[in-house]
Amino acid sequence: MTIALIILGAGMGTRMNSDQPKVLHPIAGAPMLVHAMKAGASLDPAKTVIVAGHGAAAVEKAALDFDPTADVVIQSEQLGTAHAVAQAQPALDGFDGDALVLYGDTPFIRPETLAAMTAARLTHDIVVLGFEADAPGRYGRLIMQDDQLAKIVEFKDATDEEKSVNLCNSGVIAADASTLFDLIDAVGNDNAAGEYYLTDIVAIARERQLKATVVRCTEAETLGINSRAELSRAEALFQSNARTAAQADGVTLTAPETVFFAHDTVIGRDSVIEPNVVFGPGVTVESNATIRAFSHLEGCHVSRGAVVGPYARLRPGAELSENVKVGNFVEIKNAQIAEGAKVNHLSYVGDAEIGARSNIGAGTITCNYDGVFKHKTTIGADTFIGSNTMLVAPVTVGDAAMTASGSVITRDVPGGDLAVARAKQENKAGFAVRLFEKLKSRKAKRS
Ligand code: UD1
Ligand code: MG
Repeated sequence: MTIALIILGAGMGTRMNSDQPKVLHPIAGAPMLVHAMKAGASLDPAKTVIVAGHGAAAVEKAALDFDPTADVVIQSEQLGTAHAVAQAQPALDGFDGDALVLYGDTPFIRPETLAAMTAARLTHDIVVLGFEADAPGRYGRLIMQDDQLAKIVEFKDATDEEKSVNLCNSGVIAADASTLFDLIDAVGNDNAAGEYYLTDIVAIARERQLKATVVRCTEAETLGINSRAELSRAEALFQSNARTAAQADGVTLTAPETVFFAHDTVIGRDSVIEPNVVFGPGVTVESNATIRAFSHLEGCHVSRGAVVGPYARLRPGAELSENVKVGNFVEIKNAQIAEGAKVNHLSYVGDAEIGARSNIGAGTITCNYDGVFKHKTTIGADTFIGSNTMLVAPVTVGDAAMTASGSVITRDVPGGDLAVARAKQENKAGFAVRLFEKLKSRKAKRS
């Protein structure tokens, strides 16, 4: 079945109390809109149309960052969910297949659930995703008639009897695209909110002898986000699921509740993640790696057997090969560290390449920024970089070379050489004893 996604995200999200459109607030490092797009992407859609309104330019950018082929259409006045879906029609001109409507503020719909909806479409014209709510509150109610969905009533328009129904509308709807737009054409706004309700298409479809049904999911899956409190609950739910999934994948989490994942974190089997580790977006950790306590990783790749931290920071572009060691208070950015190399203490390595088995001494810094441009540091294999070496980039240290501790390296070091770039030491015989005596006698005179 050919599928087009229509993702609604034009609403203001008043209760977020934010300058930012609601659908751009992040969960696990990605805008909630991207979570909805990812869920829909599991159906391999031929088209994806995002309906934007409030903060449309920013919404468009986020949508295209994730999927450059997406269409973003503008709903300049928010007249209701049916009106929002209608805005997608021109973008789907000539499209032949099913339309699936998702909400940009409902990030947790599972691919399996969407697959169940497309399967139900084989026998029904309209498929609505519903859930049994413990406290149905203000959700639209799904009114069943035998095994068919008769209509959806919005809370504001429901009778007391209808309000007592616990089966609620998630908002997700699937139908043939041209049928959907035909039905929407017939929707009016004579209701309590004065809005064009997408939900009205069900009753209209039934009048036309079309068949409608409900696919059910859990309430947690359709969790919608309207406020900062709900945003934090959604984050907590995501993290809890991600921790469980990581453990099921064979990852040891010493203190799972203190580890925070991003939406796209990948961790291999038999890796160990110690307490208080935070993953930003774009991290892959291969198997058998150890990420020790209090480390922060983002946009980086950690290969098999590597050990990172405690208290390490891996920033975007950090590439650690197998069995690399990155220790405490070390920051790595845009740098490739080859197999078995060690950067164990208090160093900054940025815009650099470090060869295999090299040892980078404590307090080494690649001075990569001149205030305007960034420059590269290249260090060969089997080198020994002495503690507190300043590598003023652009600079290259050849294979098996050494730098003396405390050196400021401004010129290339040929392979096999030892570079000493610091002031020569001078020892003044007995000077310390005389200086101490002088200072102590000065102190005695003062008291
Ligand atoms: C909607 C459903 C309700 C369902 C609930 C689930 C309708 C009429 N009601 O109600 O049955 O139980 O969702 O959460 O559909 N949007 C636009 N343009 C608009 C209006 C809304 O893009 O003109 C977008 C919003 O940004 C949001 C989504 O559509 O992402 C839902 O709109 P919202 O106003 O939250 O609908 P509800 O009243 O919650
Ligand atoms: Mg809502």
